[in-house]
Amino acid sequence: MPTTTDKENASLQAAREVIEQIKKKPQSCLGLPTGRTPRALYRHLIAIAREEKVDLTGVRFFGLDEYIDVRQESAFKTYLNQSIYQPLAIDQNNCFSPIMIDDYDALIKRQGGLDLTILGIGGNGHIAFNEPRTPEFSWTHCVTLDESTRTANQEFFPSLDDVPRRAVTMGIQTILESRKIILLAFSKSKIAILNRAFNGSVEEAIPASFLTKHPNLEIYTDFEFTWLK
Ligand code: GLP
Repeated sequence: MPTTTDKENASLQAAREVIEQIKKKPQSCLGLPTGRTPRALYRHLIAIAREEKVDLTGVRFFGLDEYIDVRQESAFKTYLNQSIYQPLAIDQNNCFSPIMIDDYDALIKRQGGLDLTILGIGGNGHIAFNEPRTPEFSWTHCVTLDESTRTANQEFFPSLDDVPRRAVTMGIQTILESRKIILLAFSKSKIAILNRAFNGSVEEAIPASFLTKHPNLEIYTDFEFTWLK
């Protein structure tokens, strides 16, 4: 398990893991998060990919989630376009979002399944947009967002009223089926929820707690954290 207390260094290490995955399997399927947490990782990923001239033409990119009824400028697809797809000149045919198809899980399976999924964690323990009380055996589905989640994401919108109330997200099983998972938790505000998820009971109240069942999970933090197992 990586141990680091520096966000830049943690993001760099995580970016190197992603590059290693792509070099090992050029046809990799990657699950990608949005939000504040992965920004540094994407920056490092772009820098390494350019410097090492990594071939990305076979990589397929799957957004974890997307708002329903959102203006284009605030859509997660726009975030991913700006943060990673455009800077790396990724073919749009290799960029997928759960909003674009009824059966996202079937699409992921047809593409060979997720090899590596990067996650952040919400203040209430959500992963992607799987809010508390999401069943463990859930696949890609529509959700009503918690008010705490809408408030946490308000800064990406002109006002709280503009934050959509609904979204579509990969389910818990979609995520757990990924062959490898990298979880990023940055800022002291995530310490308590990370401890509850990994050192507390596994329960629907904390969706991230289901990650403890995954056999190939790495956690990167910018604070001291020990998974007691
Ligand atoms: C968002 C996203 C998640 C993200 C989480 C944490 O709402 N749907 O994928 O991991 O909340 O966001 P942040 O990294 O901004 O704290």
